[in-house]
Amino acid sequence: MKNNLRKILNPLPTIAVSLLDSDLANLATITRKLQKNKVKIFHLDIMDGHFVPNLTFGPPLIKSLRNHTKVFFNVHLMIENPQNYISDYINAGADLIVFHYESVKKRIISQIIGDIKKSKIFCGIAIKPATPIKVLFPFLNIIDLVLIMTVEPGFGGQKIIKSCISKISLLKNYKEANNLDFIISCDGGINEHNLKEILDLGCEIPVMGHAIFSSSDYVKKVKILQRLTNSLKFHKYTKNE
Ligand code: DX5
Ligand code: ZN
Repeated sequence: MKNNLRKILNPLPTIAVSLLDSDLANLATITRKLQKNKVKIFHLDIMDGHFVPNLTFGPPLIKSLRNHTKVFFNVHLMIENPQNYISDYINAGADLIVFHYESVKKRIISQIIGDIKKSKIFCGIAIKPATPIKVLFPFLNIIDLVLIMTVEPGFGGQKIIKSCISKISLLKNYKEANNLDFIISCDGGINEHNLKEILDLGCEIPVMGHAIFSSSDYVKKVKILQRLTNSLKFHKYTKNE
């Protein structure tokens, strides 16, 4: 199946900026500055205090932010019963909705994917560190993206769980063997020190928040991370020639 999300985000890999650890009172300025600096994806972390032990924001904030930036919104739902809120996030301006495999009953997963895609936006599924990738095999031909959590969902600024990294190559091998085209993204604990390893294994969208917003100059840090990602892109290209 051809992946239109890949077409929209082309060229990959590219970084997604998680706004969770940013100064949330200044989101309009932050997103505008990052848009100017060619950030292609904002990653918006939605937490409900049930599926994860933390609370963040919801559709009203996303809707307001949509008035300040045209950048692609990847909404990462870390909530129970995501099926009840899909239309709220679509109406707020989400471009891609990612829900957690662990947050829903297996028998309604295909239905949720269908509901999201019916609205002409993109759909992804996220898995927690303890969840094996094989649970996703039945859905990989109908989703646009897999989000491999490389920390326990709930908080920014955690250390990457090394054992999760091996899921990237497992998923990439399965994808190639089965001629699938979904995008592989990773979320949590990614920084300039482990970025190369993750990209080399096949992650196409590394999500990064803390590494960017813990810096005294987040624009400069984004530029460094983008340059690093682009240099690896070039390296990969020449390698495959
Ligand atoms: C964690 C969130 C992440 C997080 C990014 O539950 O899903 O998106 O903000 O991780 P850091 O902050 O480590 O880059
Ligand atoms: Zn996230």
